[in-house]
Amino acid sequence: MRMYDLIHKKRTGQVLVRSEIEWMVDAYVRGEVPDEQMSAFAMAVVWRGMTDEETTDLTLAMAKSGHVLDLSSIPGVKVDKHSTGGVGDTTTLVLAPLVASVGVPVAKMSGRGLGHTGGTIDKLESIPGFSCELSMEAFLDQVRRIGVAVAAQTAELAPADKKLYALRDVTDTVESIPLIASSVMSKKIASGADAIVLDVKVGAGAFMKDLDQARRLARTMVSIGQLAGRRTVAVLTNMDEPLGHAVGNALEVREAVLTLRGQGPPDLTELCLTLGTEMVLLAGKAKEAAAARAMLERALADGSALAKWKEFVRAQGGDDRVADDLSLLPKAPVVRPLHAWADGVVTGMQAEEIGLIAMRLGAGRAKHGDAIDPAVGIVLHRKVGDPVVRGEVVAEIHAASEAAAEEAARGLRGCITLAAGHPFTPPLVLEIIR
Ligand code: URA
Ligand code: CA
Repeated sequence: MRMYDLIHKKRTGQVLVRSEIEWMVDAYVRGEVPDEQMSAFAMAVVWRGMTDEETTDLTLAMAKSGHVLDLSSIPGVKVDKHSTGGVGDTTTLVLAPLVASVGVPVAKMSGRGLGHTGGTIDKLESIPGFSCELSMEAFLDQVRRIGVAVAAQTAELAPADKKLYALRDVTDTVESIPLIASSVMSKKIASGADAIVLDVKVGAGAFMKDLDQARRLARTMVSIGQLAGRRTVAVLTNMDEPLGHAVGNALEVREAVLTLRGQGPPDLTELCLTLGTEMVLLAGKAKEAAAARAMLERALADGSALAKWKEFVRAQGGDDRVADDLSLLPKAPVVRPLHAWADGVVTGMQAEEIGLIAMRLGAGRAKHGDAIDPAVGIVLHRKVGDPVVRGEVVAEIHAASEAAAEEAARGLRGCITLAAGHPFTPPLVLEIIR
């Protein structure tokens, strides 16, 4: 087979067969197909698209390009959750212990943050002592013992996706439904879960800017999941503004603990209950959504979710006293308030730009390998739809220096729109695709 012919086929709108896709992925990982040919192919897919069958073949070939986790030694239905990437998305920190506390085993591989979106691993590792670098044996053992573990994704998990994603990042070929769908699902399938809940973000802070595109992405991923024998549900959720109040690593840990204590932001709490309900249903722990949700609400109210969080943090070397004493988390030396400059209602908060400001404060990475500062970030005291009075604190900037706080404040002011009008509640859960 020649890569040139496969590029030509895709460029002229033809459909590739499984053997061609498998050969291409294998040759690319072995270095026999060079980056320039793979980039040309990716660009052809951006323009020509792929059928569901081609997308599934690409997904499975990438999933099989490295280790495929075997979770069969863990009893029960293992349900994984994945977000397509948002700003201030604190859900995994809450959901993992929450669903584990009602008996759904969580064996989760997560990534580090890149660009305007933060990563679960970086957030968890802002807890003093916490480590996500677990051996496979320790990872499986922990899930068997306490029902939950979160590990950093290893280089051996879907290496074809790792290589292709880095290439797409620099060739403007990220925004393609078949390429995103196969990238996400290859990692989920290689992670070994029996069932998958996808949080597909829609809006200004997400890859998918409009509902129609997001729905197509969600349907494609659900269909790949079914074809691969993994029951998959996609929840489409709003990402016009950051999720919850906190954006930044230790700040999001604080927010997660508050949510587990039942004192979290309403949007984050609601999203965790919605995604958790789907996970409980897929795991077969409840027959109906209302019963699943009631189990989760009870776990939040009676302290069992918070107790599971402590157990989970302790198991991975972290200081579980954080659950009772949030002052043990890293703190930024400078905390600068941003005051409302007018009376009215918050009508907009640009999620992507706020994510970038947090990244420049040091909460995220501009490129792979950059160091991050666990203490810094942004806390939004008002959210879209909330009323504001001139002079009130709308947000707080946690920074390493006065100069950094000043620069962030200038940027943040431009991200928040205040206007006359009545308070309102923006939509959060837009649609569920099963
Ligand atoms: N997240 C991924 O893992 N892959 C993509 O292509 C986009 C978002
Ligand atoms: Ca948040």
